[in-house]
Amino acid sequence: MARILIADSSEDSRRILREALEFEPKLEVVDDVEEGSELAQLIGPLNVDLVLLDQELEGADAVELAGRLRQQHRHLGVIMTGRSPSVGDVRAAMKAGADDYLPKPFQTSEVIDSVQGVATRVEQRRAQLAVHDVGGPVAAKVVSVYSPQGGVGKSMLAANLAVVLARESGRPTVLVDLNLQFGDIDLMLNINPERTVAAVIQRMNQLDAELMESFLTLHEASNLKVLAAPARPEYADTITVFVVEKVLQVLRERHTYVVVDTPSFLQDTTLTALDHSDEIILLTALDLLALHNTKTALAMMQKLRYGPEKVKLVLNRSNADVGISPEDVEQTLEYDISAFIPSDGRVAVTSVNEGEPFVLSQPKTQIAQSIRRIAYQVMDREEEFLDEGAEPGPSQPSGGGGGGLFGWFRG
Ligand SMILES: Nc1ncnc2c1ncn2[C@@H]1O[C@H](COP(=O)(O)OP(=O)(O)OP(=O)(O)O)[C@@H](O)[C@H]1O
Ligand SMILES: [Mg+2]
Repeated sequence: MARILIADSSEDSRRILREALEFEPKLEVVDDVEEGSELAQLIGPLNVDLVLLDQELEGADAVELAGRLRQQHRHLGVIMTGRSPSVGDVRAAMKAGADDYLPKPFQTSEVIDSVQGVATRVEQRRAQLAVHDVGGPVAAKVVSVYSPQGGVGKSMLAANLAVVLARESGRPTVLVDLNLQFGDIDLMLNINPERTVAAVIQRMNQLDAELMESFLTLHEASNLKVLAAPARPEYADTITVFVVEKVLQVLRERHTYVVVDTPSFLQDTTLTALDHSDEIILLTALDLLALHNTKTALAMMQKLRYGPEKVKLVLNRSNADVGISPEDVEQTLEYDISAFIPSDGRVAVTSVNEGEPFVLSQPKTQIAQSIRRIAYQVMDREEEFLDEGAEPGPSQPSGGGGGGLFGWFRG
């Protein structure tokens, strides 16, 4: 799925371009702007693949802007548009790094052709950059999202985090739904798994990285692969500690990021996953029961000698006004909070109902940006994170947090 941004000061042109691309299955217009000044700040936060940039865009020298965008975002595709361009205009645009030039008035078929062609080129660039930037294969990282408290937002975080990792790292990423009885990742991502972890156990003896691929379901919009939970709760018991161990070990061979969504009940399979994780995101909330349970969980993890580099405490619904502050949480738990996720019922619930993770459907919201930021922490690329694109929503934090642009994140 290529994410497209339209930058054109003419309302008509913006509408015509949107309409031309509306029914193309692999193309999605994520936003449009009528002015040049805000454009550069949107590319990162909206994770844009391709910009349709008008030569007469107000508030910017479009050719200079094209060159700057291509330098800052090396994967980015740029299609310049303009009314009756001269040969000189086209040459200047291409020299600045534009991939194509679309003259106005637009022809629907030409628009689709050009955007599809450049989208393919962007995909190739992303793949090349992923190899170059990290200098060959990198060690896999297994990240489990855990909380001893039910309903605290584990699956919401795991699904959105995995989608950002898959899209923005450009590296193979897989999400494992370890809620063996009542997995819901397939609903959250609106996928229909043909095979689940229950099928794996019948082939345990032959299980290798190649065979494993056949048990995974692709989430097309993000390129994330998913190992779904059994379709029926009674299969849960067949998944043993040995199966979980083997599955994680085999997934590590071909994936840079393995995200595990866990149930709150601490069964032996969950413990195995935590033990084999490089990082545990321990999710908590501003309520006494959650804090009490989190304290017990932290004590257990300290006994198991999981250090602060392995266990990251994340506070969900951090801005809820419930008489407990993030400082209270840190004092009670004697543990630093690494990240904050604001509460946003409208975005979170619509996203679950529509089966589209909000990091894709509502990327500009604070809740989406907070999870993007956690993903960049996981990738050890936090310094690249740009959050200027987040719009002030209903979810301003009420207190705590300190530092950072929005105050609800602490590195
Ligand atoms: N920051 C938030 N703002 C608003 N709603 C949220 C937030 N986080 C989670 N929710 C909502 O809370 C509900 C429970 O979330 P989720 O299913 O992710 O929890 P869980 O910890 O996985 O639960 P379980 O223990 O049952 O697996 C969902 O409806 C989700 O959309
Ligand atoms: Mg869950």
